[in-house]
Amino acid sequence: MSELFTPYKLGPVTLRNRTIRSAAFEAMCKDNKPTQELFDYHTAVARGGIGMTTVAYAAVCESGLSFNSQLWLRPEVVPELKKLTDAIHAEGAKASIQLGHCGNMTHRSTCHCTPIGAINGFNLYSPTFYRKMTRDDIEFVAKSFGEATKLCIEAGFDAVEVHAGHGYLISQFLSPYTNRRKDEFGGSLENRMRFMRMCISEVVKAGKGKIALTAKLNTRDGFKGGQETEELIEVAKELQRLGIEAITLSGGFVSRQPMYVMRGEFPVKTIVHYFPWKQWWLKAGVLLGGRIVAPTVPFKHLFFLEDAKKFQAAMPDFPFIYVGGVTSRADADKVMEEGFPLLQMGRAVLEDTDFVNKMKADENHCSACEHSNFCVGRMYSRSMQCHKRCIDITPALEKEVARVNARNDKRERNLGYKK
Ligand SMILES: Cc1cc2nc3c(=O)[nH]c(=O)nc-3n(C[C@H](O)[C@H](O)[C@H](O)COP(=O)(O)O)c2cc1C
Repeated sequence: MSELFTPYKLGPVTLRNRTIRSAAFEAMCKDNKPTQELFDYHTAVARGGIGMTTVAYAAVCESGLSFNSQLWLRPEVVPELKKLTDAIHAEGAKASIQLGHCGNMTHRSTCHCTPIGAINGFNLYSPTFYRKMTRDDIEFVAKSFGEATKLCIEAGFDAVEVHAGHGYLISQFLSPYTNRRKDEFGGSLENRMRFMRMCISEVVKAGKGKIALTAKLNTRDGFKGGQETEELIEVAKELQRLGIEAITLSGGFVSRQPMYVMRGEFPVKTIVHYFPWKQWWLKAGVLLGGRIVAPTVPFKHLFFLEDAKKFQAAMPDFPFIYVGGVTSRADADKVMEEGFPLLQMGRAVLEDTDFVNKMKADENHCSACEHSNFCVGRMYSRSMQCHKRCIDITPALEKEVARVNARNDKRERNLGYKK
């Protein structure tokens, strides 16, 4: 008997089943405030049977914004967020929100200050210089994580997920690739975890017992010179010690190995199509260098499973949340059989908000998502949408999606990932 559709208690909340819509950036927050589109979208996901849906990538303070369409947690957005969580609850699902700070992955025009990071440097993606955080910056951002947690409680969320992976700010401090500081925040793993410890302590102080406290962590950064599994298991132990109640195990580093996060091709042509002409230099940059800075990482079902199991073996009594390539009821059951109490899904639910109900009705149900990553490409300058439901897709882009899907299919068959 599959445990998939049985309830699960996560901290102080009980989920109706083991499925969570992963934090996948919606780009539905005009002027950094929630919109009707965000409301409709998450209500539809909740109606589709999910145990808990996650509002993605909310910045804990203004310097942490990397998109103009991203949520910035501040008191004025609480009433709208409360309407959103009420609607999710009315559909029987729980509501989570991802708390993050992008660190150096932004531009002055978006975060309205010189972008900050663990060290000084230049961000090729935006492109812009960024500066090393001072002790005051570090304390301010850590406190912002606590303040954001309080706002999320007020807004009726059941859980927060602190983003400690993918090369965003906490991960920029954790990873030896981006943290070359010489002070007490750099060097040894103990020092590189210090900033994370400060942020998590604030979250725990604000939320323990009131809201489920979770984090998203890399199993590895996904490139030579990045942080590896052995160290990240120690980070997971530290998160547990600090009071985090479950960890989502992911991987990848947006500035260095972005496709390791979700696999497949970087959607160069979709991104270029939707970028406005006033950002012509970005269009040109992505067209010329996109494939080089974001190489394809072939998609495989349950692509993080082997690495996630290493964390489970090291911390057998701790609840890890599985994410990565869950595309069918069979995949979901496999994750349960492997002993993960909860699983997250990104693209299967982006492609079809009813995916969970369909898995429940039919144990042979499979997602029709072919991971062309059109949704990722569109998200950079419009709201995130699957190409199948996108109202402004052009015939040329449709052809491009078909070409990417054919390349994915060939690649995966050659590697034996697909029969
Ligand atoms: C359009 C899109 C946006 C994403 N945005 C985020 C994000 O804001 N935060 C995050 O932690 N992961 C993000 N991800 C990664 C997903 O949450 C998930 O970890 C990844 O897609 C693997 O799961 P999947 O194979 O079920 O899609 C995003 C993925 C997609 C496809």
